[in-house]
Amino acid sequence: MKITRRQTLAGAAALGIAPRLMAAPSASLDAIGAAHGIRFGTAVGMGQFLDARYRGLIESECGVIVPENELKMHAIHPHGPDDFDFRNADTLVDYATRNGLKIRGHNLIWHHPEWMPKWSETFDYGPRPAERVAQILTRHVETVCRRYASRIYTWDVVNEAVDNKTGLMRETAFSRAMGSPEAVLDLAFRTARATVPNCELVYNDYMDWGSEAHRAGVLRLLKGFRERGVPVDTLGLQAHLSAKPDIARGGFGLDQENIWRGFLDAVTALGYKLQITELDVNDTAIPGDFGTRDAAVADITRAFLDCTLSYKQVSAVMVWGMTDRYSWLQHNKTKRADRLPLRCCPYDADFKPHPMRGAIAQALAGAPIRA
Ligand code: XIL
Repeated sequence: MKITRRQTLAGAAALGIAPRLMAAPSASLDAIGAAHGIRFGTAVGMGQFLDARYRGLIESECGVIVPENELKMHAIHPHGPDDFDFRNADTLVDYATRNGLKIRGHNLIWHHPEWMPKWSETFDYGPRPAERVAQILTRHVETVCRRYASRIYTWDVVNEAVDNKTGLMRETAFSRAMGSPEAVLDLAFRTARATVPNCELVYNDYMDWGSEAHRAGVLRLLKGFRERGVPVDTLGLQAHLSAKPDIARGGFGLDQENIWRGFLDAVTALGYKLQITELDVNDTAIPGDFGTRDAAVADITRAFLDCTLSYKQVSAVMVWGMTDRYSWLQHNKTKRADRLPLRCCPYDADFKPHPMRGAIAQALAGAPIRA
């Protein structure tokens, strides 16, 4: 017998259950997180944004969005430092504002030679390059921060400034002109704090339990910020995880957890807050059918989040894309042996939830409540 919605509601009324509660959809990831003091959101680029199904996922699951590429320096200044193009960034920020979503800014400078704007390598900085770069960077940070002001509540001021293999600071045309990478980073943070004093300022990177040199380099940088009085509030944990077939819990076994806890203990002892800024799971190394792969992805997600969210300093979980359909990981050079697409996000390519979605929901629901 088919029961209509009207009959269900009538039955509920008879039982004294409020129809509103009966009809309510299951809680969104953001609502589950918010009850514990943790916001949930996703990256969104212009490509995904134009897909109404993707916007549907944002509106049903998220409290925060972060533009995937549209605020990066090369997107704002495609041709040179003196022209600004805010069209795509404005579209995403306006959409979020209309829909009551919070916005993370990513990023004011990606201090990595591969990802700085192309023009930065060949630009003529004139007879006093240090002053010219300082002027370009100051104007960039002031203009972008002022434009979005309090609509962007937290900025990744600097992204990936530490070399993951050596742990040394990466050099770019900007750092060579200014004399050191630290000179560039410190100026970016100081300018951001002066321009948007209430914004949470983040150093964002992907150090994990696999690279001791990278973690040590990031810790050195964070200590240096404190010694120099640079206004950095938070470490952004990118969390681009890789599932492993031969390690417990999808790749985040107890050994990995111990290393990770040691790192987070050291970071929080320096007084830094934390955000998970770019969670996704690369399952290139997991053989088998979708069920096997999805289970491994859910396992590592759950184990990683249970550990990391046990730190009350973590205030946000952002995924780097809601669906496999649009994930940047599908374009990786290293492909799966079976050439099938990755299963890396909380929803699959047809916008159906993965076990990873359930893992995030359970981890958020189990996280200690924070202010
Ligand atoms: C990636 C985007 O997802 C891609 O579309 C783009 O081609 C390259 O950048 N760490 C970061 C993000 O901080 O900005 C990167 O985003 C993913 C890795």
